[in-house]
Amino acid sequence: MLICRCNEVSKQELNALIKKNRGITLEKIIETTGASTKCGRCKPLLQKTFEQLSAKYPPASQLNLQF
Ligand code: FES
Repeated sequence: MLICRCNEVSKQELNALIKKNRGITLEKIIETTGASTKCGRCKPLLQKTFEQLSAKYPPASQLNLQF
């Protein structure tokens, strides 16, 4: 599924990026992929997808470790 049509950034690409770089910021994702830098129509979807994937792949320091 394409999140940003102008720059052809897919949800799969974002998933892989966030999974590999846990804790990455939205700004860094935009800088890396170029998503939302043209028409900007994808911005709400990009934001929502970023929030969902960040919750799915939290930074290591936020993992709920159980001993
Ligand atoms: S759809 Fe993402 S910038 Fe146009």
